[in-house]
Amino acid sequence: MKQLIINGNKELTGEIKISGAKNSVVALIPAAILSDEEVTLYNVPNISDTKALMDIIELLNGKVDYKNETMKIDTSKIENKVVPESLSKKLRASYYFMGALLSKFKYAEIYFPGGCNIGSRPIDFHINGFKKLGAEVTIEGNKYIFKAEKLKGARIYLDFASVGATINIMLAAVKAEGTTHISNAAKEPEIVNIASLLNNMGAKIRGAGTSEIVIEGVEKLGKGVIDVIPDRIEAGTYTIIGALLGKDLKISGIIEDHIDALLSKLKEMGVDIKVKNNSLVINKPEQFKAINVKTLVFPGFATDLGQPMSVLLTQADGMSIFEETIYENRMGHIKYLQKMGANIRVNDRTAIIVGRTLLKGEEVTATDLRAGAAMVIAGLIAKGTTKVNEIEHILRGYENIVEKLTGVGADITIKED
Ligand code: EPZ
Repeated sequence: MKQLIINGNKELTGEIKISGAKNSVVALIPAAILSDEEVTLYNVPNISDTKALMDIIELLNGKVDYKNETMKIDTSKIENKVVPESLSKKLRASYYFMGALLSKFKYAEIYFPGGCNIGSRPIDFHINGFKKLGAEVTIEGNKYIFKAEKLKGARIYLDFASVGATINIMLAAVKAEGTTHISNAAKEPEIVNIASLLNNMGAKIRGAGTSEIVIEGVEKLGKGVIDVIPDRIEAGTYTIIGALLGKDLKISGIIEDHIDALLSKLKEMGVDIKVKNNSLVINKPEQFKAINVKTLVFPGFATDLGQPMSVLLTQADGMSIFEETIYENRMGHIKYLQKMGANIRVNDRTAIIVGRTLLKGEEVTATDLRAGAAMVIAGLIAKGTTKVNEIEHILRGYENIVEKLTGVGADITIKED
């Protein structure tokens, strides 16, 4: 068991460099198996989700060479094997092997995916999409079996603009016969990143980043190269930390368009942020104005930044409202914020936060990845020592979090039992 120990209330100054996006790389690695040659990914973050997917590639007889943020995946000898529960359960994104294996072999056996416990998280849109493309889907215990004589292009409408379903259907459709239309597709930047790799490998995908994606099936996919985009959620998390504790804190390697909603909300609170080229510099203001934040699909305020943002709202003067609209259960961190002294009332998916409250160090738990990020932020601003348990969740998504924070003046260490 690992625990984070944070001695709070230290001013942060210097530079934090943002890593490649978790939610991109977790789809780019499965996408690589569609190639018959080598795929190279640059700017790959060293997080436990990356390792879990490398294990699946190796199980399928692919070769992975990963060093200095560059990952080369040789898929020329890929074989179709059952993806066991021990691997699929490690993360949500194991479900991208459903679309990728189905596309490559017209057959896949894979156990239910894992991931953060933030709601029921069904995958019915993925399954319905595969069925529309011609796959037969059966469930045996905890395992899905996908089978198709051949995959044929189809018109697929998503009831909700799901990130995972959009990517999974793209993966399944790239080699299908004919043209697939995905309408009400998700528009998140990660989708553009995956479509760019697939197009670089020889796919014909248009419209990624809009709500209408058109995929003309091709027979073969070859060599591919792509840069993983910067992690907009990691960038957002450190920007929130900068708003709370920054003294000319520089966050570098960002794409401003990807974090527009957050920057706009921080400015509304009175935070001083200067964006130049691919960096921003942030300073803690004298005081924060209370605001309302509602999570939405991109380009709205990212659900993955809602929990970190709620910590900042405890420091605003007056009443703020934080509303989560994507998942049923993204309030797991609130009871720990209350334990630390925050004044928060939760009603279903809405939290009413009254500030400003001084937080004090306590023993808390990372109930999921972004709840964990919220606990780190709370610990960094609290008086005294905060101990965060179950930090495995945090290490799934934040590369070198301890080193990055220590590098700008935070007092944070990992204790291993
Ligand atoms: C991705 O999850 C991310 N995960 C999530 O990141 C992120 O919160 C989410 O997109 C939204 O941006 C990965 O990329 C691995 P969805 P995903 O399908 O694709 C419902 C993090 O902290 N839904 O867009 O699983 C679903 O239950 C995480 O990094 C269905 O009902 O999200 C949810 O309420 C957590 N049926 C909503 O749609 C389906 O078939 C959005 O889910 C699919 C989704």
